[in-house]
Amino acid sequence: MLDKNIKYILKNIKNHGYEAYLVGGAVRSFLLGLDVSDFDITTNALPQIIEKIFKKTIPTGKKFGTITVIHENNSYEITTFRSDGHYSDGRRPDNISFSDELTEDLKRRDFTMNAICMDYDENIIDYFGGTEDIKNRVVRCIGDPDQRFNEDALRMLRAVRFMTQLGFSLDEKTRLSIVKNSFLIKHISAERIRDELNKILISDKPSEGIRTLIDTELMKYIIPEYMNTVGFDQHNPYHDKDVFEHTMEVLDNIEPKLNLRLAALFHDISKPECFTQDENGRGHFFGHHIKSAVLGKEIMERLKYSCDMIEDVRILIRYHLLKEIDMKDKGVKKFINNVGIERLDDMFSLNIADIKGKSSNAGFEKVEVLREKCRAIIENKEPLSKKDLNINGYDLEALGIEKGSIYTELLDKALDLVLEYPGKNTKEELTEYILSLINNKKGLDS
Ligand code: CTP
Repeated sequence: MLDKNIKYILKNIKNHGYEAYLVGGAVRSFLLGLDVSDFDITTNALPQIIEKIFKKTIPTGKKFGTITVIHENNSYEITTFRSDGHYSDGRRPDNISFSDELTEDLKRRDFTMNAICMDYDENIIDYFGGTEDIKNRVVRCIGDPDQRFNEDALRMLRAVRFMTQLGFSLDEKTRLSIVKNSFLIKHISAERIRDELNKILISDKPSEGIRTLIDTELMKYIIPEYMNTVGFDQHNPYHDKDVFEHTMEVLDNIEPKLNLRLAALFHDISKPECFTQDENGRGHFFGHHIKSAVLGKEIMERLKYSCDMIEDVRILIRYHLLKEIDMKDKGVKKFINNVGIERLDDMFSLNIADIKGKSSNAGFEKVEVLREKCRAIIENKEPLSKKDLNINGYDLEALGIEKGSIYTELLDKALDLVLEYPGKNTKEELTEYILSLINNKKGLDS
């Protein structure tokens, strides 16, 4: 059933003698039984007529035929039928012409499932077989895919995104056209690529989308560094899958939070670069967590992720390697410090998904032991960082120690002591310890 506000808008335009239809994502979602949040309406009334018909309007994209109507505190985008020129910014065509024909408007759209209309009486108007494609769960371009992708290359990524989000397949002609035109994605802004990639990543089965990006060669242009992971044999008894297949399993196994999905995507990206084999032929990847964190950061910067997101994901990748189960409290505290208390749950989620992607599930215990140790340390409010020390730079100054890099050195040593012996975190004990360090140093220097 159409929402009463939409009905009001469609009826109002109709009563003024014009055609008006709900179109695009709203009809697609309606037919799929999904929630609808954005409502796009298409009409043969010109923008200035829409402004006359409705009391509250905003000329959002008037030049391109779009007026936003505010009704009952909701906004609705109403766009005049148009045929488009090229989309160089990808959001809006460089030139358009208004049309009086609904078919003209519909045939400029990307996929058959996005070109279905619904009128006031909830009749479906479908010139391109979109309903059938939705029934068969297929993403198919309208008309000639080469032409659609040349108008706006982002549509190739949208195709993969819709396919992944909705659990659809790609029509073969559409898929082949993506392979042929994949290089065109180079002309699309990083922000638009990022937004589609995000939607792929937070869908139910992101691996489907990532595989399709590889198969269609889009990945070669979006994240070329990723290609090295495909088919990279790990030569390791803990891994029955290559780096790419392992990563896909981690990706699907982790909760659909963007930071976690990004961390999963990049956590092993530098494994191929770090690969060595020992005399028994067993594969090792020393330092891959460090290199993957650096490379993941570089890629996310290129794709214009926010600084906060980049730092969050970088830390998750950097510390994803699980240490020994009998890690001492001091090591656990350093781990908490490095990861950050607020990020610990996400860190453990990545660890667990990582283990699930291996040949044996050995290692869950390590995560649970570490989680418990962290919990106890945090609950006991044990000192963790320099800001928790009961001594600071002013105290060192008061002791007559000359300012300089020695302050960092002394406070680092004080922290080291307190991480091991929390009871020593008193001004007296720490002053005594610092003075002993100074005296030792003097002794060594003389
Ligand atoms: N459209 C298009 N080509 C694009 C972007 C959009 O043809 N590159 C058309 C499609 O008909 C689409 C409609 O414009 O349905 C609205 O676009 P948009 O709001 O971006 O997408 P939705 O289909 O609504 O889906 P979503 O909100 O999930 O992006």
